[in-house]
Amino acid sequence: DGRDGGPVCPGSLIVVSNRQPYRHEYESDGGVDAGNGTDADPSITVDEPTGGLTAGLDPVVQRTDGTWIAWGDGDADFDVADENGCVAVPPGEEAYTLRRIDLPDEAIDSYYYGFSNRVLWPLCHGFPELVEDRANDFEWYRTVNEQFADAVVEHADEDSVVWFQDYHFALAPRMVRNAVAPGTTVAQFWHVPWPDPSTFRYCPAGGNVLEGLLGNDLLGFHVDRYVDRFLESVERFLPAARVDRKGRTVHYEGTTTRVVATPMGVDAASYDREAREVGAGPLESLRSEYDVPHPDDAVIGLGVDRLDYTKGIPERLAALERFFERYPDWRGEFTFVQKATLSRTDIPTYERHGDLVRSEVERINSRFGTDDWQPVIYTEDYLEQAELCALYRHADLLLVSPLVDGMNLVAQEYVAASVDDTGDTLLLSDRVGAHDLLGSHAITIDPSDIDGMAERIADALEMPIDERRRRMRTLRDRVFDADIERWMSAQFDWMRRLHGEPSRSGRR
Ligand code: G6P
Repeated sequence: DGRDGGPVCPGSLIVVSNRQPYRHEYESDGGVDAGNGTDADPSITVDEPTGGLTAGLDPVVQRTDGTWIAWGDGDADFDVADENGCVAVPPGEEAYTLRRIDLPDEAIDSYYYGFSNRVLWPLCHGFPELVEDRANDFEWYRTVNEQFADAVVEHADEDSVVWFQDYHFALAPRMVRNAVAPGTTVAQFWHVPWPDPSTFRYCPAGGNVLEGLLGNDLLGFHVDRYVDRFLESVERFLPAARVDRKGRTVHYEGTTTRVVATPMGVDAASYDREAREVGAGPLESLRSEYDVPHPDDAVIGLGVDRLDYTKGIPERLAALERFFERYPDWRGEFTFVQKATLSRTDIPTYERHGDLVRSEVERINSRFGTDDWQPVIYTEDYLEQAELCALYRHADLLLVSPLVDGMNLVAQEYVAASVDDTGDTLLLSDRVGAHDLLGSHAITIDPSDIDGMAERIADALEMPIDERRRRMRTLRDRVFDADIERWMSAQFDWMRRLHGEPSRSGRR
């Protein structure tokens, strides 16, 4: 534990998340063997779902020899696991146990595509009008939370630190709290925003959600305003709870929950390293795969997002269109690459949103495109981390324009991968958690002000290189300072502190 000087967990760690860090899949018929098949069965491949959460936690769990419990969504997942769904990972290294939970289709539809992503996701991001409260979704959400809680209890003992991730598990913490020894630490990090109470009031079973979360000893959010709104929501909708706003604690049914703001970071050193390793190759691939003309001297803008209505992609495209209208000299000189990752496409809102984005790209390209230039290069291709780092490194600016986002790790990844000191620029929405950390040295954008965003793009392109360099250097300092290890150490320090608190002994 902590032998490389990394974060030290104050007990044996049990991480619980919806997404698993490794997924086993059968090669599809006629598929190309990626060469990473398992020893036991070469037709099975292992992939690591991209995303800051799983990628960031995996090395820590590897060091702590812990357990990770997650939904087994790969078609070969249970063929490589034992009868309890357990498999040693990473493949070949076997540093810790991944325990997979098998969910029937109905559970996936109601728990994942239902209450998690049709209720809590839109609600937490301030879109109550998109909430779909379908029959049985909450009941399945509860059932799946129970299933995860049962698995946790099987692995937990007095010294365990149970650490839930995100909004898929609002009920499980109290279930676990009630079933384990008082010495067991129960904690959660909520990776999405917490909404204003005037929005939270539309949450079906909102009282149950709050009660569940108050089963945690420690509840983490990215920034102060989410903490404040959570405490306000508890005050308004759970009158039996005792809220100490100043001390940021809540007493409810024998549990004391400390609520903290600990902004998540990225593994900055690894983005930096990978970006340095990519060399000139990516320029070639930009040229061949994405048709960027003369990429070595073209100015490249970049957007990298899951295809989600919270990310403000249509607004960003509208701003680009406005920019090319107002600044025709940049046509042919500035190319925008938008990498989008398909997500939750079984939900019609996501499907419609994807269609809108694709048709807007097409429209803008046919409006301004010429025989050898397209203003927007749009791709939904899967990118390896190295390819992503290549794009980050060679993009002159990154446009991050969510209408709301808990943190936004892409902004931080870009900064970490901007290794050339050539004055790369970050344009950052003021409605993302990352703005608290990076806003003063990014170019701030209001994602719903299309004219303003177009002007900010022009500002970024015309800003003197010395100023751009100065800003990026400061951004890099901040991202390296507040990296993923810092985030985890902060969580673990809090857990350690709470362990000593007398209030714990009063708990049943
Ligand atoms: C957000 C959530 C994560 C989630 C990720 C990808 O970042 O906070 O919990 O894993 O999106 O979404 P997905 O539904 O594909 O897991």
